[in-house]
Amino acid sequence: MVYPQPMALTPARRDVLVLTPWLAPIIWEGTFNIDILNEQFRLQNITVGLSVFAVKKYMTFLRLFLESAEQHFMVGYRVTYYVFTDRPADVPQVGLGPGRRLAVLPVRSYPRWQDVSMRRMQMISQFLEQPSRQQMDYLVCADVDMKFQDHVGVEILTPLFGTLHPGFYTSKRNAFTYERRPQSQAYIPHDQGDFYYLGGFFGGSVAEVHRLTKACHEAMAVDRANNIEAVWHDESHLNKYLLLRKPTKVLSPEYLWDLHMLPWPSVLKKLRFVAVHKNHQEIWNR
Ligand code: UDP
Ligand code: GAL
Ligand code: MN
Repeated sequence: MVYPQPMALTPARRDVLVLTPWLAPIIWEGTFNIDILNEQFRLQNITVGLSVFAVKKYMTFLRLFLESAEQHFMVGYRVTYYVFTDRPADVPQVGLGPGRRLAVLPVRSYPRWQDVSMRRMQMISQFLEQPSRQQMDYLVCADVDMKFQDHVGVEILTPLFGTLHPGFYTSKRNAFTYERRPQSQAYIPHDQGDFYYLGGFFGGSVAEVHRLTKACHEAMAVDRANNIEAVWHDESHLNKYLLLRKPTKVLSPEYLWDLHMLPWPSVLKKLRFVAVHKNHQEIWNR
């Protein structure tokens, strides 16, 4: 393979942090050569799972999510979509490329949207305890109210990754919306924390995602028994988990942006996975 030589004294990007203090790469456009990565990952013949929940009215987001994933998510790899839903009959028919499959996993719904969101941790962890998960090397867990609009490939694969929240990647840790009440299992004091990760895009190896989702589910069960609910639900618990068990890669906000809330900053060369407009009154608690 012929490609530009990496030079020890020439950083790929000078304008962003590309390595955490625990030596995990932070993934920005311009820091990786996808051809080299593809060469390495293709040799392993991996299968990547993409789990997504479409419960109650959120089913309306699923078609665009899947169609856009066909265009941009792990193109050229074996991919299995795991659609968790209370409405299996409403899963749209989407044409899938070679090597790509879709599995529907029936789940119950909860009246409160917060519970639907939080229970994802339980449902994913229990799913990963079933034998069918053996066919998968990595699992990526995503919100459904999203679309892919640029490349998301093997550069994200690693034992454990989280994604920087677009609202907080320039913020001081004391401004992060971590859970601040010591009574919650998600508690993080103001002088601690690395990044504010979002709940809508995380993943890694099956073993690590199982460990993460199980730990978050158990922490939320303790909170429930203590009559406390973390401020940002599963996202608060994810942040606590990733503070204690550091991710091995961190995705830049290229991997989750919301143009309805924020303009496109020049530090992001690509917006790969973006929020779809959602009318909260319309969609919640139905
Ligand atoms: N979700 C769902 N049905 C609901 C509420 C939530 O399927 O009634 C799932 C869906 O995958 C959604 C995710 O939970 O993307 C997180 O909820 P939401 O996207 O509303 O949270 P936000 O991104 O606004 O924090
Ligand atoms: C909002 C987002 C929420 C939550 C919150 C954290 O922008 O819509 O889902 O992530 O930030 O402060
Ligand atoms: Mn969302």
